Amino acid sequence: MGQEKNDPITLHGVAEAAGVSIATVSRVINGKSVSPQKQQQVLGAIKRLDYRPNVVARSLKIRQSHCIGLIIPDIENPFFPALVRGVEDVCREAGYAVFLCNTDGLLADEARYLDFMASRQVDGLLFAAGQYQLGTTELLQQIGLPLVLIDRQVDATSPLPRVGTDNFAGAYEAVKHLFAVGCRKVGMISGPDNLSTSCEREAGFRVACCEQGGESSAERIIKGDFSFESGYEGAELFLQQHVDGIFAANDMMAIGCLEYAAAQRISVPHELAIIGFDDIRLAAWVKPSLSTIRQPVYEIGRMACEHLLAILNGKKNEPVHLFVPELIARQSTQRGE
Ligand code: RIB
Repeated sequence: MGQEKNDPITLHGVAEAAGVSIATVSRVINGKSVSPQKQQQVLGAIKRLDYRPNVVARSLKIRQSHCIGLIIPDIENPFFPALVRGVEDVCREAGYAVFLCNTDGLLADEARYLDFMASRQVDGLLFAAGQYQLGTTELLQQIGLPLVLIDRQVDATSPLPRVGTDNFAGAYEAVKHLFAVGCRKVGMISGPDNLSTSCEREAGFRVACCEQGGESSAERIIKGDFSFESGYEGAELFLQQHVDGIFAANDMMAIGCLEYAAAQRISVPHELAIIGFDDIRLAAWVKPSLSTIRQPVYEIGRMACEHLLAILNGKKNEPVHLFVPELIARQSTQRGE
């Protein structure tokens, strides 16, 4: 989608017009080293679009709006409303309002909302990224607002403060649990490739499989996208491989697996054990109830917001806090029953 005539000119619009990445635009604006050709492309686009970085927003940032910007990638996934609740409770207690934006994990929407918030004087940002994208750190630093990442990393080098979960440890426990209940052929349905949480869970899956004598080869990992539908499709593929245990990288995909098993009259857990990740409220209500790895999602939201407010008040926090996830064993893996 191109830059519309009356839209405020954004970093993303300049990048599109120049045919370069947002990170390159940010580097040119910040005077960092860029190839002469790309620099010309960016400067030409800035001139043509008459782009002016939100200097007004930054100068105004000394005035407190008592509003916190919260950007999430998927408002329909039950994980995120619980996260928002934690943020909102802390904001209310501290006399702040929350400015919530949903991006569907699209980089263009992330850039647009980041610019939007900076120009509307939010005092600080909480950001759950939809992309594991090199250059996002520069973009966030370019916005120039106090910020705490929630749940997902933005790129391997990002020094930005973050509150999340030890995804590797959670995935490792989930897979060990499947082997402990007697599974011998375990597969993983992972989340989107470009997400740090999914990559970390894949790593936990591989290590646990190797330690348990199982296979961690490529065909034991099917790409999902954290949706119910991708879990349903993943279960279909794994059952063709006669897998007897599935670790889904989130509960929505695990519930999709349960639905496929029910449709095919496959006995869960006796023919197929299934475990998810998140412990959304639905996990305890589905039949059979879903075993999962519990993330303290409300507490993650609270702590991320507390850390941001501390930064706004000039206090220091630990740069990264990862909660230890907990195995919640329910009917979908209880083969001994
Ligand atoms: O279900 C959504 C997933 O995205 C959660 O596991 C959360 O950790 C986020 O990464």
